[in-house]
Formats: sequence, structure tokens, C-alpha cells
Amino acid sequence: MRPTTQIYSNYTKHDFLVWETLFNRQMNILKPIVSSEYLEALDIVKFSSDKIPNFEEIGELLKPITGWSIQVVPNISPQKEFFEFLSQKKFTSTCWLRTMEQLDYLEEPDMFHDVFAHVPLLSNHNYVNFFKGISDIALKYIDNPKAIELLGKIYWFTIEFGLIKENEELKIYGAGIISSMGETKHCLSDEAIRLDFDVKTIFNTDFRTDIIQERYFVVESFEQLYNSLSEIEILLQKALEKEAVIL
Ligand SMILES: [Fe+2]
Repeated sequence: MRPTTQIYSNYTKHDFLVWETLFNRQMNILKPIVSSEYLEALDIVKFSSDKIPNFEEIGELLKPITGWSIQVVPNISPQKEFFEFLSQKKFTSTCWLRTMEQLDYLEEPDMFHDVFAHVPLLSNHNYVNFFKGISDIALKYIDNPKAIELLGKIYWFTIEFGLIKENEELKIYGAGIISSMGETKHCLSDEAIRLDFDVKTIFNTDFRTDIIQERYFVVESFEQLYNSLSEIEILLQKALEKEAVIL
């Protein structure tokens, strides 16, 4: 059974070594290719290689900035619970770490993914306003599987696997990329397909969770993401109406 609260004294030397190894390895790769807003955010939450982040301290740091905090969950949350917490500005996160033997592959997200990759940007206003906006829409349609499927695609191609343009250069901001060495190298390579962020195209794009991604969507800014919320809701409504006619 995975822990449901973060008891800091329970982290072992092995856990600290895993955090340090993953942190240093990813930072070496990420520094030139990750969004500058992520790098700034990493400083805001004071992450470093020698300290496993303490959730209470992160909550205190985020409180005056965006008011977000971390809600510990043992594993991936069911959708309703996940969106409910997000709507309350609580990011659901695990607090356990993979072992040294599992550095490169895990079947479920651990706190290196949830915390290292997701948490820093919880200090970014446009990013969290988009994140909360998606969750608020999801809660309105929580009993409609089609709506949740479409919103899941938006979440996947932005929060998890999004790319962003910065001074005409492509950078990474998606958490699924940030915490994965393989994905980090692949997403900017010639083998990957990159498309401009477009709500309709994303609604029509399927994805797989068990492989390196084939397609990535590129935003101009987090402001663009935030500004897309009204379009997301309008197109969602249209897609649901169309679905109702087909049925
Ligand atoms: Fe994630």
C-alpha cells in the first residue's frame, strides 16, 4: 500500500540517492531545452538535488503566489477526485519514489514525475489558471464520458506533453516529457511530429499512454493556453451535440 501522507522522516538514504540521481540527470539534459518559465519556477519552489521536496514547505511557498498546494494520493486518482482537487487548487501527487533499479521505467507515476515535473509550474499564474479552468469544465461534464475523453486529450497534449515556443526556439513544458529521459530526447528530434496548438485538432487526435509520443502540440505561451479555455468549452459543447445527433 502506498503512503497517503508525506512523513518526511520515512525517506531513506536510498530515496535521497534516487532523487539526487534523477534530478541531476534530468537537469543536465533539460537546462538548454526546457521552458525558461519552468526553470524560474524550479527556483521559486526551491528544488535541489540534495533534498526531496517537503510538501508542507512547498504549500507555504505557493500560498502567497498562486494559492496552490499538494494533496497526497497513494496512486493515480480516479478522474472525478482528480478534477475536484484541482478545482480546489490542490494538485494530487504521490509521495513515494521509484528505486534505483526502476530509474528509467515505471508503470505508474511516482513523486519524481508528480513533483519534479508538475509542481514547479504551479507557481505560474497563466499555467494554473488554465489547469484550474480545464478542471472546472471537466467537473461540469463529469458524468459525460465523451466530454471527459476530449478534455483528457487537452490535458494530455498540454500539461503532460506540451511544447512551447520561446524566442522562436522550441522548449519543453509538459510534465510527461520533463520527467522522462527518453521522451526529452525524442520530442525535439526529427522523428517527432510537432503541430501548432489547436483545440479542434487535439480533439481529433488519439494518444497512447504506453509508448513514446508520436505527436506534440506547440503553444506560443501559457497565456495562449489560458485564453483557449472559452474555445475549448464551445468546441466541447459542439462535439457533444454532434455526438447526441449521431446517437
Ligand atoms: Fe502527470
